[in-house]
Formats: sequence, C-alpha cells, structure tokens
Amino acid sequence: MKFLVLNGVNLNLTGRREKEIYGGETLQEIEKELAAFAEEHGHSVEFFQSNWEGDLCAYIQEAEGKYDGIVLNAGAYTHYSYAIRDAIAAVSVPVVEVHMSNVHAREEFRRNSVLTPVCKGEILGFGKYSYFLALESFWL
Ligand code: DQA
Repeated sequence: MKFLVLNGVNLNLTGRREKEIYGGETLQEIEKELAAFAEEHGHSVEFFQSNWEGDLCAYIQEAEGKYDGIVLNAGAYTHYSYAIRDAIAAVSVPVVEVHMSNVHAREEFRRNSVLTPVCKGEILGFGKYSYFLALESFWL
C-alpha cells in the first residue's frame, strides 16, 4: 500500500520548537524512520509539509486514487480549519488524525478537533510514535 504523511502548520519546526512537548528529532529525521518502517512492512510512504491551509487541502484532494491512506497532523489547523475538514470529507481516502502531544492535557482550545468527525480515527500523545501507530493502523 502507498501512504501520505501530511504535516501542517509549524510542524517543520519539530526538533527545534518546544522540545519538551514535541521532542528533539527533526521532522526530516522522523520521516526517514517512518519511510524505513513502512518499507520493512512492504509499504511505501510519501511526505509533505506546509504552513498553508490551502496547500494541505490541495494535497488531500489530490490524494484521491493515489494513496491508500493519509496520516495527518494538521497542527493548530486541527482546532479550527473547516476547509481541511471539508477536504477530508470530500475524498474517499481514509485519514487518520495524529498529534504528538496529548492535546487533552494541554490548553482548553486544543481539546476540540474539527477534523476528528470526518477522520477514520485519531492517535495522540505518543510523541513521534503517534505517526508510526497511525501508519500501522492501515495494515493491521
Ligand atoms: C499538535 C498539537 C496542536 O495543538 C499544535 O497546534 C501543534 C502540534 C501535536 O502534534 O501535538 O502544532 O498537532
């Protein structure tokens, strides 16, 4: 199977910002490990990150027929982007929502996700391993 790991706003700073929350590994390092993990299981994965909401919507739209699943960490857009929510609802490719931190143990505004209702599932709170668990969920 072929998957897309899609990261949204500020995730390009992973490894440099709030390391006590998001860890010290860069997004590129995590992506490299994810690619190896998928390959070990006979799957392939492509990566994209953008700070722009419209780019994320375009990638979701273009995923139709191209990928078997999307692992999506939309960053702060999770909490208010109806545009990303509608893009997910518009395609048949399943999306698993991911967060590295336990958003329920943080600020109040992080407790609500407008994306979860249109996602296949949600994995959060396991640091970089949230991405691994989300990917794995597609072939278990
Ligand atoms: C995050 C949680 C969001 O609330 C936050 O805005 C992020 C990262 C996470 O991976 O824990 O940028 O999605």
